[in-house]
Amino acid sequence: MHIDIITVVPELLESPFSHSIMKRAQEKGILTVQSHNLRKWAINKHMQVDDYQFGGGAGMVLMPEPLANAIDELKKERTYDEIIYMTPDGPRFNQQAANQLSLKDNLLIICGHYKGIDERIRQQYITMEISVGDYVLSGGELAAAIVVDAVGRLIPGVLNDETSALFDSFQDNLLAPPVYTRPADFRGSKVPEILTQGDPKKVEAWRYEQSLQRTKERRPDLLDE
Ligand code: ADE
Repeated sequence: MHIDIITVVPELLESPFSHSIMKRAQEKGILTVQSHNLRKWAINKHMQVDDYQFGGGAGMVLMPEPLANAIDELKKERTYDEIIYMTPDGPRFNQQAANQLSLKDNLLIICGHYKGIDERIRQQYITMEISVGDYVLSGGELAAAIVVDAVGRLIPGVLNDETSALFDSFQDNLLAPPVYTRPADFRGSKVPEILTQGDPKKVEAWRYEQSLQRTKERRPDLLDE
């Protein structure tokens, strides 16, 4: 999968993909992520890419021209399955959306900043909008990093058996069960016996029961879906 990201703050996207699973996915050649500084398509020598909003009000808006030129240029290189705009007023991102996006070949993600992007770009170019939650971030970059991470780890070949996503929270609409590691007795608090008895069938049943209980207690809404 190839992911292009258009941003006015490419620095914010350097670290998230340079470590751990995202780093390995790129080293294996399964995932490539490329950030593009919108200022490359600025309208003048002052590197301007934003302007005041019509009608007045605080906050700058990313202008349509640099965004359209950036998207047009990138579209010459590849055909995108989705052109995604990160925005708090989009549909909320979840594991199901991550699963679906992990099957795509090419994604283009647009990060807003300040007040967002000109509405006409949303109408003319954007095929999908994503919010990562009901709160407002300073820009779409951190939200984009969340989406790329959640999607990237699901691409076949990125995770191995040990880190398999099959048992993650939210797969099957269930939260993950509790996990324990050594020591078996930590300051008097013991690991549930069933986990140390070496019967995989019993462990599986226990984990499923714990998942169900946890979901009922913490996220009953998931069980309604
Ligand atoms: N940009 C600012 N806030 C955001 C959010 N919650 N989700 C996606 N993009 C955003």
